[in-house]
Amino acid sequence: MKKLPWILAALFFLSSLFLVYFFLFKGKTVPAEDGRTAILMKPEHRNFALQEMRGFLESVAQIHDGILKEDREQIIRAARSSGGAVVEHAPAGLMARLPMAFKQMGFAVHGLFDEMADSLEAGGSLELTREQLNLQFNNCVACHKTFKIEIEQ
Ligand code: HEC
Repeated sequence: MKKLPWILAALFFLSSLFLVYFFLFKGKTVPAEDGRTAILMKPEHRNFALQEMRGFLESVAQIHDGILKEDREQIIRAARSSGGAVVEHAPAGLMARLPMAFKQMGFAVHGLFDEMADSLEAGGSLELTREQLNLQFNNCVACHKTFKIEIEQ
């Protein structure tokens, strides 16, 4: 009879691991037809995510343009507009659907945009901005290769 608490504790531990795996690592995902992982979203989540993506594209275009024109202010504005502050506006429930790898890549992108702005504000060179932009494109490509969005039926 003394074994029972241990069995319960073990079951509790295992089910916690399972929940952590599902909610933290796996998110709300299914394998997609094209070999990527599809994140299942409600329409408002998808609209938010895609709007943010269009903002990313605008930022990288503006940063590239700023490098050509040597317009540091334009680069700082563009980088900041896709920095970490944007994440705070995410609709309720979206974060819980995102798998860990997606969140990590997403935070890396926001973080690097902030870093680009910070570097220039601290007097860094446009050559450094170019290198950062080059790195940033790797983040965009890596995530698009791995994930897509589908509407939850
Ligand atoms: C954390 C993952 C992730 C990162 C990082 C990421 N994207 Fe995306 N992006 C996605 C997903 C998922 C989609 C939806 C693609 C699909 O469903 O096929 C998307 C879609 C897009 C779209 C289409 C938007 C629309 O309205 O249809 C653009 C443009 C885009 N991303 C640009 C970028 C750029 C530029 C970067 C880098 C600065 C970037 N993304 C970084 C995940 C990411």
